[in-house]
This record gives sequence, C-alpha cells and structure tokens, in this order.
Amino acid sequence: MSDASKGSVTLTLDGTNRSSSAPLVQASVGPAVADIRKLYADLGIFTFDPGFGMTAACESKITYIDGDQGILLYRGYPIEQLAENSDFTEVSYLLLNGELPNKKQLAQFTQDVTMHTMVHEQIRRFFDGFRRDAHPMAILCGVVGALSAFYHDALDINDPRQREISAFRLIAKVPTIAAMAYKYSVGQPFVYPRNDLNYAENFLYMLNAVPAEDYKVNPILARAMDRILVLHADHEQNASTSTVRLAGSTGANPYACIAAGIAALWGPAHGGANEAVLKMLEEIGSPENIPAFIEKVKDKNSHVKLMGFGHRVYKNFDPRAKIMKETCHEVLAELGIKDEPLLDMAMEMERIALEDEYFVSRKLYPNVDFYSGIILKAMGIPTSMFTVLFAVARTVGWVSQWKEMIEDPAQRIGRPRQVYTGATNRDYTPVEKR
Ligand code: CMC
Repeated sequence: MSDASKGSVTLTLDGTNRSSSAPLVQASVGPAVADIRKLYADLGIFTFDPGFGMTAACESKITYIDGDQGILLYRGYPIEQLAENSDFTEVSYLLLNGELPNKKQLAQFTQDVTMHTMVHEQIRRFFDGFRRDAHPMAILCGVVGALSAFYHDALDINDPRQREISAFRLIAKVPTIAAMAYKYSVGQPFVYPRNDLNYAENFLYMLNAVPAEDYKVNPILARAMDRILVLHADHEQNASTSTVRLAGSTGANPYACIAAGIAALWGPAHGGANEAVLKMLEEIGSPENIPAFIEKVKDKNSHVKLMGFGHRVYKNFDPRAKIMKETCHEVLAELGIKDEPLLDMAMEMERIALEDEYFVSRKLYPNVDFYSGIILKAMGIPTSMFTVLFAVARTVGWVSQWKEMIEDPAQRIGRPRQVYTGATNRDYTPVEKR
C-alpha cells in the first residue's frame, strides 16, 4: 500500500467513547481513500456499500478516470492522444508494462504476441459441440476457459515468466477464438491468423476472409477497428475487471480468470450494452417514435433503460464516446454511406436526452457503447459480435490488472462482508411436524 498517508478520518460509535482512526491514503491524482482495515477491530462493525460505489478494493497504477471532468488516462496518457497517435499493440505494451515501448521493445513485443496467435488444433473440435445458433459470447466464454486445459505448461502464477507467457497467449489467442466463434455461427471455415498483419488487420482478416477468394483488409476499417480496440482496452475497476481480480485473488489460473471477466462483461449493463443499443434503435424504428420511447425510459415502472447512456463513474461526457462519435462519422464518410438512419436516430436521441430534465439532473450522458454499435454495423460486423469485440479489446486490460494484482504484496483473497438479515438461530423441525 502507498505510504503517502496524510491525515485521517475518525469514525465514532454514537453513544460510546469508542472511535476508529482511518488513515487517509493519497492517490497520485483523484480523491484520497480512508483505510478502514482496523474498523472491525476498533468498533466491531463493517461498512456497507452495495455495488462498491465508494470502495477502493485495490491500489492500481494502470488506468485513471476522472468522472466529473470526463478524463481517462492509461498509465497517465490521455485516451485522446493514444487514440490519435498510438495503436493497439503499443497501448497493450503500455498497459502491461507501465511505459511506452522504444522501437526495439515494440518490435519484440509484437513478435512475442504474434507468435501465439494460433490456437491448439484440438481447440477446433470444441466448436463442434456448440449449436450453430449459439451466441458467440457463450462460445468465447467457454473456449477461453478451456485454454487452461491446453496451455498448462505455463500456469504457475508465481513464476513471472509463466505469467508473461500466459499474458501473450491470451492477448494473441482471444481474437482468433472470437473470429472462430463468428465463422462457426455463419457456417464458414475457420480462418487461420496471419502474422504479417497487425492486430486489428489480422482480426478483420480472420472475421471476413474466406478460402475461396483473396481478401484485402481495408486500411480505413483496420484503423477504425484499431481505434475501437484502444478505446476499450482498459477502464480500471469496472465489473468485469473486478471479477477478474476477484477470481485471480484465489490463485485461479489466468485463463479461468479471463473467462470469468468475459462472463461479467456480457451483461447489458456492461459490455452487452453495445449490442443492446443497436437492438434498441432498431426497435424504435424511426425518429418520430423517439419521444414516446424517452417517456417510457423515464417511467420507472417500465424498467426500460436508454442503453448506451449513463455510467457509474462518468457524470460528464464519457471521453471514449466523443472519439467514438467522431470515428463513426469518419467511417461512414470513408465507406461512402451518406445516409445511415440508425446514426441519425442516435444523434436525435442524444439531442433530446441531453435537453431532458430526467437525464440532465441525473448527469446521464452517452457512454462508449452508444455509437460503437453503429460503426461496427457499418463495418459489416454482425450485432452478436459487438460484445465479443469489446472482450477482445479488454483482454489486455484484464491481463494487466490480473498481473498487477498478483505482483502486489498486499494482495489477499477477495472476500466481501455482508449484512445478514435472515432468520436467526432456530431449531430444525422434522418434516411431519411442519
Ligand atoms: N436510462 C435511464 N435511466 C438511467 C440510465 C439509463 N441508461 N442510467 C441510469 N439511470 C437512472 C437510474 O434509474 C437512477 O435513477 P433514480 O436516481 O431515479 O433511481 C439514476 O439514473 C442513477 O443511476 P444508477 O442506476 O444509480 O447508476 P449506476 O451507476 O448504478 O449504473 C449503469 C450505471 C451504466 C449500469 C446505468 O447507467 C445503465 O444501466 N446504463 C445503460 C446500460 C449501458 O449503457 N451500459 C454501458 C456502460 S459503459 C460501458 C461498460 O461499462 O461496459
């Protein structure tokens, strides 16, 4: 734990003279945290924070978000600068290692990752067990979890070199498995990776190529895909990353941990939102139906959410959404798509929502998922693959956070407390007496 403690917060139990002093641990940027680890010993109480909205569960040097200002930094670098000037492979190195690579380091890292892009040939057989109409997230989750059965030569999490090899394997193989899940669903042959292509190009190639003809990766689409990957690469302690850390805290192997992260990402409140946004826009159908839809969203009894809006941390524009919106316009222009009804509807929806008291007072803004689906659709990526793509990008974030956790001397098994409100101790009654 950082030793930069300055000041403390004192909690006093009302009506007693018992108190507990929680030292303040300073962050390098952002709010300090009160270290409450002595609270139970001092006062016999725990804290209650459903959804962990106020609780820091770890110390991390990877990603910083200022939700009020709409700032996102990877290792200190603003997301806007990385999206503009860097690429996914360089960003992956940065997230994993803490610094931008020099030329030699980048070349070595690229080589280390690309040499692992193929999956064990037996893995192909796994796919036959899935129905053709299986959601690709279901396949991804299962097959990534199964990787530990294939790569057990490097599963010792206490060995830094083995951790590194597992990191390379995960970053390299998840796109291959993701593309295989897609090919399986459309009944086309699996396409082997091509190591002469960069990460985004190779992913597009594995998704779109068929053995029957030549496939040239469109550089504009590859650049857009790369940018989407960069924007999704990490986002500090979100639900799926916290899931990866919690699973990893037990000593579980990295493939099992990343599979757990994929499962958590799938939900519509998290990574599943990009798919849900597109479905929502398609269901609304045309701009004149937007006001009625917004009314439904505002009605708490309807349980309908405006998908792609709102965020636990951002109470201002999600900086990723801004870049995504620009990229969306660029991609449509490059593809010569002059009129995209879904984009028009999304922009109209955004305009109406941002002027509506319900959304304004709750500080609900478009998040990263609001525009990403429209770009992906324009790029020819099927809707069911949107969340899969998010998982491909986030794998490096999960792996970086997992690695940081294992290397943290303060790391211990994650084990939240509860407020038990169930029955108190009572005696068992035999069934004939009930
Ligand atoms: N539509 C309508 N109302 C909303 C929405 C929304 N999208 N988001 C939040 N609210 C309301 C919520 O009902 C609550 O109202 P009230 O105070 O009257 O009870 C208020 O705003 C505060 O929201 P909250 O539920 O306390 O916020 P949260 O931090 O628990 O949830 C969220 C954050 C992202 C799960 C939520 O905003 C949401 O479900 N959004 C839609 C799904 C979505 O787009 N998810 C992607 C998030 S970004 C990418 C990622 O993380 O993967």
